[in-house]
Amino acid sequence: MNVSGEKQTHKESIRRAEEAVAAQAEIASQDDYRLQYHMLPLAGWMNDPNGLIYFKEEYHLFYQHHPYSDKWGPMHWGHAVSKDLVHWKHLPIALAPTEPYELGQEGGYGCWSGSAVETDGRLTLIYTGHVDGREPMEVQCAASSTDGIIFDKHSGNPLIPGSPDTGNFGFRDPKVWSHEGLWYMVLGSGKDGQGKALLYQSEDLERWKYMGMAAESDGTQGDMWECPDLFPLGDKHVLVLSPMNMQDAKNLYMTGEMDYASGKFTPEAQAKLDYGPDFYAAQTLLDGKGRRIMIAWMDHWGSEMAREDRGWYGAMTLPRELVLLPEGKLASRPVPELGLLREAGISASGVILSMGTDAAWSVRDGQGFEWIAEFAMNDAQAECLEITLLAAEGSGESTVIRYLPREDKLILDCSASGRGDASISEVSVSTEAPDANGGPLKLQVFIDRSSIEVFVNDGRYVLTSRVYPSALTGGITMRAEGGNITLQSLKMWNLKSIWS
Ligand code: FRU
Repeated sequence: MNVSGEKQTHKESIRRAEEAVAAQAEIASQDDYRLQYHMLPLAGWMNDPNGLIYFKEEYHLFYQHHPYSDKWGPMHWGHAVSKDLVHWKHLPIALAPTEPYELGQEGGYGCWSGSAVETDGRLTLIYTGHVDGREPMEVQCAASSTDGIIFDKHSGNPLIPGSPDTGNFGFRDPKVWSHEGLWYMVLGSGKDGQGKALLYQSEDLERWKYMGMAAESDGTQGDMWECPDLFPLGDKHVLVLSPMNMQDAKNLYMTGEMDYASGKFTPEAQAKLDYGPDFYAAQTLLDGKGRRIMIAWMDHWGSEMAREDRGWYGAMTLPRELVLLPEGKLASRPVPELGLLREAGISASGVILSMGTDAAWSVRDGQGFEWIAEFAMNDAQAECLEITLLAAEGSGESTVIRYLPREDKLILDCSASGRGDASISEVSVSTEAPDANGGPLKLQVFIDRSSIEVFVNDGRYVLTSRVYPSALTGGITMRAEGGNITLQSLKMWNLKSIWS
């Protein structure tokens, strides 16, 4: 790809942005809510994961970044790498808005979300240039690099100078992949109240042909589809979406069939990737082991905490491997590499949780910890299993996981977790988990200062929430109500910090 003459300007913009990050880093580092083993920016604002790719034996994670403050603003692409999906190293900012198609007067402009691909050892980022009030407001652009660190914008930008349709709302967040020697790009859009995924095809990543709409909302799936991702998994294709204005859902996936000749995706099954409030703009990559790894922004638009000043804002979810289950649904499982974080732990087995008696365990501190518990459900008489976490003495705060066996319902109650949005999320685990014979209920839970991720039955259901307790505690209390439940096994570990 040719490189335009603005290289210096881009370099200079990045340098200034890096200085702004450095100036806030000290304040940011002192915040008690900073997560210990999740990816987050050194300072400044972060939202969507962008350009996820396994390139030259490293995982690259770019992200929507506002380096100048802890609030959303003109978007840059922040950048981090990891060799193991656990330990992340911050790299210089990869993209700063410098060109007319991404530079505006007010806040609503910049290098918006997109993806990354590798061609002959080069790393190419494909992203949306967005400028509020410009016509067209959103265009698709590219920048590439040989070292994977310094990116030059393509002189032919914008590669796609406008939407193929008029009257649509949104034309952004390109996700590019290759299939049988051709490149495909799926883009998020919406028209007449229906979210849409638009499809393009290219031979060279430069000239793009519009193939039509790969999929659209059935009328209940939101009016604009942000951050679409379309990829093969097993013998199916999966379409991942962040729908706007969909009732009760901020994320969605569909599994189905992709016909590359017609460019049509036909959905067969759908569900949420995560049932908690803080999971948005998920993106995936295919790694060297052939795994489909997904990371999302662990937050939501309009979060109360985003209004506070802390010198930083935003965190990513733990990386999760997507697995296609026989019934066409997906499981998302924390990658096993996370086991690297575990310190010496505690364990228990065969504990009968009897009515009215609390069973309690604790790890050294509540900075970051993980536990895995399995409960026998075949002879459970109880109406409710209640697990209390993050309950600091005298604070009146707690985060509660509740399982109602008779209603097959799992609830993550963050209504008294501390500061921030008070949420109560629930998921019906009736059909597959626990299985029809009342098989065990397995919970794997990660807590990291200001986050909780609950994986149910090996990732068949996941609930993610940010929580802002006033004190960190490593305790867990279990109680059964209306009858007994057997805790078959419990393992619990403190987790190390990945940040020095
Ligand atoms: C999703 C999103 C994208 C957009 C980006 C802007 O969270 O709204 O659609 O590209 O964030 O930061």
